[in-house]
Amino acid sequence: MAQAPIKAPLPPKEQRKLSNLQLLWGFVRAYPGQLTAALTALVVAALSTLAIPQGLKWIVDNGFVAGADTHAVRPYFLFMLAVILVMGAATAVRFYYVSWIGERVVADLRQAVQRHLLTLDPVFFEENRPAEIASRLTSDTAIIEQTVGTSASMALRNAVMGVGGIIYMAVQSPKLTGLVLLVIPLTVLPIIWLGRRVREISRTSQDRVAGVGTMVAEVLGAIRIVQSFTQESREAARFGGAVEAAFATAKRRIRVRAMMTALVITLVFGAITLVLWQGALDVITGSLSSGTIAAFIFASAIVAGAFGTLTETYGDVMRAAGAAGRMQELLAARPQIAAPASPTPLPLPAAGRVSFEGVTFHYPSRPESAALIDFTLDIAAGETVAVVGPSGAGKSTLFQLVQRFYDPQGGCIRLDGVDLRAADPQAIRSRIAVVPQETVVFATSALENIRYGRPEASEAEVWAAAEAAHADAFLRDLPEGLNSFLGEGGTRLSGGQRQRLAIARAILRDAPVLLLDEATSALDSESEQLVQHALEGLMQGRTTLVIAHRLATVRNADRIIVMDKGRIVASGSHGQLLAADGLYAKLARLQFETAQPEAA
Ligand SMILES: Nc1ncnc2c1ncn2[C@@H]1O[C@H](COP(=O)(O)OP(=O)(O)OP(=O)(O)O)[C@@H](O)[C@H]1O
Ligand SMILES: [Mg+2]
Repeated sequence: MAQAPIKAPLPPKEQRKLSNLQLLWGFVRAYPGQLTAALTALVVAALSTLAIPQGLKWIVDNGFVAGADTHAVRPYFLFMLAVILVMGAATAVRFYYVSWIGERVVADLRQAVQRHLLTLDPVFFEENRPAEIASRLTSDTAIIEQTVGTSASMALRNAVMGVGGIIYMAVQSPKLTGLVLLVIPLTVLPIIWLGRRVREISRTSQDRVAGVGTMVAEVLGAIRIVQSFTQESREAARFGGAVEAAFATAKRRIRVRAMMTALVITLVFGAITLVLWQGALDVITGSLSSGTIAAFIFASAIVAGAFGTLTETYGDVMRAAGAAGRMQELLAARPQIAAPASPTPLPLPAAGRVSFEGVTFHYPSRPESAALIDFTLDIAAGETVAVVGPSGAGKSTLFQLVQRFYDPQGGCIRLDGVDLRAADPQAIRSRIAVVPQETVVFATSALENIRYGRPEASEAEVWAAAEAAHADAFLRDLPEGLNSFLGEGGTRLSGGQRQRLAIARAILRDAPVLLLDEATSALDSESEQLVQHALEGLMQGRTTLVIAHRLATVRNADRIIVMDKGRIVASGSHGQLLAADGLYAKLARLQFETAQPEAA
């Protein structure tokens, strides 16, 4: 369990395409009001930043001249203050709306992905590890949040400032600006090349980090097993290895990024210095005013800063494209088990007849060995059929198929005469109550756990179900009764208590078909007898399939089916099967022989 290798959950495709961001645009577009406000504020803030060099120009040309009128500079300084005020206010508004959109998009995206994941069939989660999907859902959406909420707006703002700055500079001095534009390609090309390297590396780095998250969840979730098998140091070493691998990749990424930063700064500021040199010559010859050159310096600093930021945000935007690509893949996964375009409605009222007709089934992950072979069984409405047989015979598989978690490769399964493949899986499952072999308890109160299949049930109904499952006594003893928190996976309950909770849940579900998979296996003989008694009452008027290892619990079934290696090897009543002296008689002998010393 803890040994499973960390593998990529989804096929590594070309995940980093900018077109992946379309997914995000779909979410952003849903908020046109906020988007307009954000864009307007962004443009206003960028333009007011660009107004600063203009103010500076006026101040230098009118104020910094010997003998200038002291009042003459006042309007220019007032202009500057007004610009600063506008800039401050617009920046605040932009920050608010852009961050708002970022948070909102991530909230919507998380919900959309989670809602979609809930529709996928179990095969998807056998192929893609749930823990890894969960960690991606948090880490990838965090990257997207960062981008939509920060990087995208930085990119946009700096693009506006960069382009606006160049236009402003061109107006001040076409000649100097021409020089600047000449050197830009020289600086941009190497930057683009390095950017591509950074992207490749950060992809690996993200995968590694997701792997680390999965590992933590897995090991901490199984902490008792880790500690009882005293494997702490091995787990620490394994985790250490994963963390170091993540660090090594991160180091490569930051090294390339550091080089990129050096390159950008050198090229951009070097070019500006050379251009200024030419500018200084122009001021000396008198073809430019000193205010203009001051404004030009300021504007080119803004432009340089803007392009610098743009190259940095470029990496972030690509990271987000990767993250969005993976979200897109999750959203694109199609369930193999889904309702057909026009599902056949199940007949009303529900009878609960279940029939297997020549069913052959292989689990998708084990195509070479069949779990069921030409399996035929017709269970009449209201009948109780027990299924017994050695471990691995295919008993639980029957339950998986009745609930249509998988489709058989051959034959067909019907519920009330309708082929399961023709019906809506939700309609099928709403006619079924199940107590699975492995009890599932959610990390919430006992109340919510019992009424999981019928959330509208009243507290009185919950108590009635709990009584029928003989769970009422221990529930009353819990510190806060039904409202007690049961711990992660129900760790605050004993195995038998968890099982009775699961039975109460199935009782409350009140469905025409009842599936019990070793429902009382964790109970002591006395509780088992009591619960068995209660279950027999429940089986009245319901179609029931009971799987049990302990034959004592299935004696009273209408029919007992003995399974071995995916086939029915015998069927009949307890007496008939004993008389036939086959596998059942052998199992019975073994069990009743070992049970005798206990009884004596
Ligand atoms: N999800 C799965 N993927 C692949 N193979 C599976 C899967 N679940 C069960 N199997 C295999 O199918 C066969 C039948 O399993 P099944 O769970 O039906 O046995 P069972 O009769 O319920 O056994 P037990 O009494 O131990 O619960 C086994 O060989 C098992 O290894
Ligand atoms: Mg089983």
